[in-house]
This record gives sequence, structure tokens and C-alpha cells, in this order.
Amino acid sequence: MKDITFRNKDKMAILGLGTWKSDKGLVYNAVRKAIEVGYRHIDCAAVYGNEAEIGEAFRDAFKAGDIKREDLWVTSKLWNSAHKKEAVQPALEKTLSDLQLDYLDLYLMHWPIAVKESAGFPFKGDDFLTLEEVPLEETWEAMLVQKEAGLAKHMGVSNFHIANLELLGKIEFPEMNQVEMHPLLPQQKLADYCKSKGIHMTAYSPLGSMDRPARAKSDDEPILLEQPIIEKIAESHNATPAQVLISWSINRGIAVIPKSTNEKRIAENLAAASLELTTQELEHINGIQSGFRFIDGSIWVVEGSPYSLEDLWESE
Ligand code: A2P
Repeated sequence: MKDITFRNKDKMAILGLGTWKSDKGLVYNAVRKAIEVGYRHIDCAAVYGNEAEIGEAFRDAFKAGDIKREDLWVTSKLWNSAHKKEAVQPALEKTLSDLQLDYLDLYLMHWPIAVKESAGFPFKGDDFLTLEEVPLEETWEAMLVQKEAGLAKHMGVSNFHIANLELLGKIEFPEMNQVEMHPLLPQQKLADYCKSKGIHMTAYSPLGSMDRPARAKSDDEPILLEQPIIEKIAESHNATPAQVLISWSINRGIAVIPKSTNEKRIAENLAAASLELTTQELEHINGIQSGFRFIDGSIWVVEGSPYSLEDLWESE
């Protein structure tokens, strides 16, 4: 399995298990199974609401001798309601306590969006805080203090565009930017920029996240796993469309975190790490880009919100 090498030479397996939308009652088994079949990288977040159950899986995997802590890469994310500098440490400590870990390998600012602590998840305009009230730099500096304290080995961000990365770069560039990425949305300009600044990238929703809530879907959205070129290439390799999508990301040197709670698909997705695609196949896949976002950010622009989609996504 290829690795992503960080500035201090720490290595993260390029393929990890995603846990967004992994239901309670299922995620324990998914994580245990994933570790058992060879996953060494698990992507979590406080807002997914399942870190306590993932923590039980980690505890039992360590206890059973399936893996040692130092051989597992664990990422988690700071939720939007904990952006104020005094809220960062408690949020990170809660995640560590839920995950039953002493440290994270990587901690990400989940969105460049601030929300009132009392709101948790924002549903109305009044739930938000502006970036004038809580600047991204304030949150970032508080995260870097936690890195110094050893609660997380690496610090990064998620859903950041170039201008926001530049802002943080005046203090210190993040080590990771996790964004939605797949052949419909390759984000090449952002990927080139990140490479030039030594920022690694992780692709979320690499399979199109079709299990997200219906309210977060549009009626006429494309089905990533059923794109004809993906199906055709999969067939020619005796592989599955999911494996082709995962391999496409690995071929770009971009970490990828497909989510599954199904044992067969967990193993199938890991096997994609050994699927070699030809340059010509990669070019064909690149041809399907349309700029389509499955996670379009519309939840952040409810009536009265100080945020707009133009603030969130840079035009390519
Ligand atoms: P399940 O958890 O039942 O396997 P994403 O990673 O883009 O968010 O996509 C996750 C969705 O893709 C889930 O619905 C998940 O279902 C499904 N999925 C995961 N692996 C595969 C696979 N190998 N083939 C088809 N669907 C998959």
C-alpha cells in the first residue's frame, strides 16, 4: 500500500476507512473488520456522532492484539461549533476520550464555518457566527497549540479553498486539506496549489456518498458508480466500479477514504490499492469531470446565514 509522507516523515496509508454515515450498531464491526483485513487508517469526526463506538472498536482491537496504536493512523475533525480558541482543547479532548486514544495522528478543522457553541448543528441564520467574530486564524492558532501539547501529531483542514489556505499559511500551512474529490470533481487547480505548498490532500465522498440523507440530495444528480467509462474500465480489469474510483485517487497521490459498513465491500475497497490503471484509462476517467458536487454546502447558506456558496467554493 502506498503512503503519504508528512513533513516530519510520518507516514499515513493512502487508503483509509471513512466513517461518515456509518451507523451506530454497525460501525464497531466495520472498524474491527477493517483493521482485521489490513486497513491502517481510519477517518473519523466528532459530528458523525459515532466516535464513542469507534473508540470501543479501537480498544478491543488493541486488546486483541490485532494492531498496535502506533501502527494505526487516526484522523478526526473539529466541529464548527468549537471554533473559539477556548473551545478547541475541550473538543479535542472529548474526541480523544470518545475514541479512547491519547493522541490523534491528524486533526482537521472540519469547515471554514463557525457556529454558536449552543447551536451544535446550524438550522437557522441565527445559529451562525461570522468569520469576523471567530476568524479562521484564531481557530487555527488554537489547534497548533494542541499540536505542540501532543494531543494531535498533525494539523490540517477540510473544505478549504486556496484563499482560506493562504490565510492560514501566514501562520503555518496546514499539512492536509480533505475535500470532496472524484472524477466528476477532480479539483486539479486546488490539488496543484496544495502540492506547491506541501499540503497533502484526502478525497472524501470518493464513491458519491449515495447514502447521505435525502434532504442533502438533488433529484437529477449523477450516479458516480454507474458512469459508463468507470463501469467499462472496471469490467476490463475484472474489478468493480468502486475499485476503479479508489484506484484513480491513489494514482493521483491523493489519500482516499471510502466509507462502508459492509464486510464484503470493506475488503473489496482495500483490494483497490493493488489495482493498476493505465495512463490511457486515467485520461479517459479524467474526461468525465463536470464540476458536480455531491456535498454542495447548501446547508451553510440557509436564510439569514452570513455565508454564501461563493465564499465556500472557489470558481475553477
Ligand atoms: P455500504 O456502507 O453499505 O457499503 P462514500 O465513501 O463516497 O461516502 O460512499 C459510501 C457509500 O458507498 C455507502 O452507501 C456505501 O454503502 C457504498 N459503498 C461502499 N463501498 C462500496 C462498493 N465497493 N461498492 C458499492 N458501494 C459501496
